[in-house]
Amino acid sequence: MTLKVLYVCSEVFPLLKTGGLADVSAGLPPALRALGADVRLLLPAFPGVVAGVTPEGPTLLVPAGGGSGLPAGLGPHAASAHGPTPWLQAGHITDSGMPVWLLHAPGLYERGGNPYLDEHGRPWPDSAEQFAWLGWAAALLGTGLDTAWFPDVVHGHDWHTGLAFAYLREFAQAGERRPVGVFTIHNLAYQGVFNAGLRPRLGLPDTLFHLQGLEFHGQINFMKAGLKYSDAITTVSPTYAREITGAEQGCGLDGVLRQRQAQLHGILNGVDDAVWNPLTDPLVQPGFDADHLQGKSQAKTRLQARMGLKPQADALLFSVVSRLTEQKGLHLLPAVVDELVGRGGQLAVLGSGDAAIEQALRDCAQRHPGQVALTVGYDEALAHSVIAGADVILLPSRFEPCGLTQLYGLRYGTLPLVRAVGGLADTVVDCSLEHLDDDSASGFVFHQLDLNGLQSALRRAFALYRRPADWRAVQRHAMSLRFSWEHAASDYLRVYASALPGLAST
Ligand code: ADP
Ligand code: GLC
Repeated sequence: MTLKVLYVCSEVFPLLKTGGLADVSAGLPPALRALGADVRLLLPAFPGVVAGVTPEGPTLLVPAGGGSGLPAGLGPHAASAHGPTPWLQAGHITDSGMPVWLLHAPGLYERGGNPYLDEHGRPWPDSAEQFAWLGWAAALLGTGLDTAWFPDVVHGHDWHTGLAFAYLREFAQAGERRPVGVFTIHNLAYQGVFNAGLRPRLGLPDTLFHLQGLEFHGQINFMKAGLKYSDAITTVSPTYAREITGAEQGCGLDGVLRQRQAQLHGILNGVDDAVWNPLTDPLVQPGFDADHLQGKSQAKTRLQARMGLKPQADALLFSVVSRLTEQKGLHLLPAVVDELVGRGGQLAVLGSGDAAIEQALRDCAQRHPGQVALTVGYDEALAHSVIAGADVILLPSRFEPCGLTQLYGLRYGTLPLVRAVGGLADTVVDCSLEHLDDDSASGFVFHQLDLNGLQSALRRAFALYRRPADWRAVQRHAMSLRFSWEHAASDYLRVYASALPGLAST
């Protein structure tokens, strides 16, 4: 039997990306397909996504809540009383061929910019409806809206898809055949919490609104719906899976996660070799590998020129490619920049986000022209240049569910300097003497989220850099590590099977 998986998410690289979630939506589904699963994506029809999809096959109307044949009171109201009913358009991603359903809903998705935030960085006022509709469409597809394709698994990602599992559970109560629900947490800090008064509009019956349901301090919590009503929960690293069951990283949902610990799995993300491979990367030519690092030296020279850094081949070049937020711990960075430069290092930062962090880094760049450079914005090509050309990539994160840029850094011989949290703890091994000795070292790891921790890791990086043979050995090991989507996909198939009674025994 071919396993049919409806993969529900809000962004996919390269069509629409705000962070690692998009990289996962591009990397994991093809890997599941390669292992024999029949996977279709379901995404809201944001403009970037529509532009990258070739329509093909059926269009299906998505009846609003209360439509005929649907349980009374369940499901969101029509987006506009007068506009057309939302609909699903089948198609495939033009470049990759990946099958996809696009959810069109009048007025909800046809807007530019960030899918979650307006131009002032505030959540769109109709965010709850945008993603209630996504969950509703997933639940309808999951219960046979497309009579030709009935999924065995609905796999939703992050809070944007949480309501799918609440609606599905109500369908099951009404006696409908329902698929297995798997919910993946990419970031527990963003939960989709909305005013309880929206319940009738979102078609969430009172039977779901209580402590053991999707109620959270008197409000509706989409993430909690995913956690309570899915059959299995995954998150993107084993360490984060443990961390979120404790109060410190649990974001108020640690109790819920402890209750579901037996169904909570940590599966590390992978690296998409078609996008992040230093030998074939079209954005970084000539390419390089562990045995031929000439291309990496050239990438460093080009990066220094491009970002206005002095052309010093032997300066230890640190880098950041990141959202500039508290999560990433980058508020610590400005305080160590003087020492970093004083020791002969350089710093290249690409990112955007928190205005205070941006400003503090801008001040550093002004204080150290030619040694510190900041590019504010989102730039895919520059991200590749930075990760290829730098010597070290910094992730001093407060928390990090998985983190992808340290994995890209490893692949490109750009040693990660990380705090030991979440996926960073699972993927980077510190250059301590014992790890140098047993050849397992791949970067620099510190523990306490404070200046001392970061400073001592920076000093270890300088110390290793003064020992070129050791640096090369660590770099060679880092570049040999493989975090493959194939490996992750086989773990996801095991999770699906554990939740599917019929499959588990085959
Ligand atoms: P998160 O999803 O928490 O932001 P990840 O490390 O999982 O962190 O993924 C971040 C992704 O976004 C990576 O693909 C990284 O290269 C990319 N990225 C982050 N900031 C930028 C930027 N300013 N320009 C281009 N790409 C960026
Ligand atoms: C989130 C997390 C990040 C993770 C990404 C993809 O954005 O912040 O750590 O790598 O999701 O799973």
